[in-house]
Amino acid sequence: MSAARIVVMGTGYVGLTTGACLASLGHQVTCVDVDHAKVARLSAGRVDILEPGLAELVGRGLTAGRLSFVVGGRDAVRDAQGVFLCVPTPMGAGGAADLRAVEAVTNEIGDVLPAGCALITKSTVPVGTARRIRDLLGRDDIPVVSNPEFLREGTAVADFLGPDRIVVGSDDAAAAEWVAELYRDLAAPSVVTDAASAELVKYAANCFLAMKLSYVNSIAELCERLGADIEAVTEGMGHDRRIGRSFLKPGPGWGGSCLPKDTHALVRIAESVRFDFGLLTAAIDENVAQRDRIVAKIAGAVGGALEGARIGLLGLAFKAGTNDLRDSPALSVASVLAALGAELTAYDPAVGGEIPGMTVVDDPYQVTKGADAVVVLTEWDEFRRLDWTYVSELMEGDAVVDTRNLLDPHPVLDAGLSWQGVGRPRPRARVSA
Ligand code: UDX
Repeated sequence: MSAARIVVMGTGYVGLTTGACLASLGHQVTCVDVDHAKVARLSAGRVDILEPGLAELVGRGLTAGRLSFVVGGRDAVRDAQGVFLCVPTPMGAGGAADLRAVEAVTNEIGDVLPAGCALITKSTVPVGTARRIRDLLGRDDIPVVSNPEFLREGTAVADFLGPDRIVVGSDDAAAAEWVAELYRDLAAPSVVTDAASAELVKYAANCFLAMKLSYVNSIAELCERLGADIEAVTEGMGHDRRIGRSFLKPGPGWGGSCLPKDTHALVRIAESVRFDFGLLTAAIDENVAQRDRIVAKIAGAVGGALEGARIGLLGLAFKAGTNDLRDSPALSVASVLAALGAELTAYDPAVGGEIPGMTVVDDPYQVTKGADAVVVLTEWDEFRRLDWTYVSELMEGDAVVDTRNLLDPHPVLDAGLSWQGVGRPRPRARVSA
């Protein structure tokens, strides 16, 4: 395909990644945002989002003249061949997706889109949104196409340029094929279908991942009660290609800006067509239960009473490799601990500033000073390399609760501390020779 003229509405981690990556594929891309200061920073090549490779791609696009940033979409779309909607679709009241930004942008640019220009939803939107946008547009010369993103935070660029698949859906088959062609150089499998199916793929995939995690967290709890080892169990499961080896790590629960939002949205979508999606509701409930099990584990580690207990938290982001606190399980655990009277000190390499209910410090050892227990909540690699003998000298108590099974227990035990993971047997301290 020759270079297409593309406009991307929204420069968040999906919009900026989409724009910069499409420019790197040779397309002519204009990214639009409402925030003047943000557009000025991006035009100067300053990327505030923590995504490996993104700043370089933005810089290359700017230098090559294939990427630009402007405020306001009306002028930008006048000669566009495709316009991507990458605006936020947060969880609204009752869990349904909030489409106000999608509708606002559609109204802003709808009358100036050139005939034949594809309007493409990249943000996760409920099934039927393409039809709603078409009705909103009131034009039959603008094909509406669903092209959901499958980007993970922390690996968004790699995921965009090395996708497992491209999914495109539209009731205008030629427009769907045109959008699929934008990605031709990625040589990834393409699923070209109708709009509703493409919209549903995104929810079905994300909610399956959430269910898989709730399932493995439940199996981890079973392991603890049966004296089994979750790492052996998931190793044994994962060799089955139908299960796969990824997304089988137990933790404090799943979070982030997507899985919680998408699981609640799909339950509402199902309700809207009178389907009680009990399996998915159970996975959501199980995620809360996992958090409560982690809190109980921590309470047990400090002798049963959290009131006045001094607890050091290692990690706040919803997963390692990102500074995103949105729906972070670490914050969810911390909020319950604080509500039960624990005194919290927390450190995360990517997170700073004030967080209510805790003292945030900028050094992991400060978290352990005087602590009755230390809890690993985010799987940052640097926590594996802490000097546990030094930690043992700093701590008041001796309990290390590792909710990610991140650490090698032996250095922790050798330092005279106790270690407990999730779904792991309690290792015994090595008898010194
Ligand atoms: C997710 C989907 O993976 C991605 O395809 C979609 O486009 C956006 O939502 P993301 O929100 O970045 O991506 O996070 P992800 O990497 O999926 O992790 C989600 C949560 O599950 C995190 O809290 C993470 O810590 C947790 N997780 C993940 C586990 O607890 N165990 C695992 O094995 C994997």
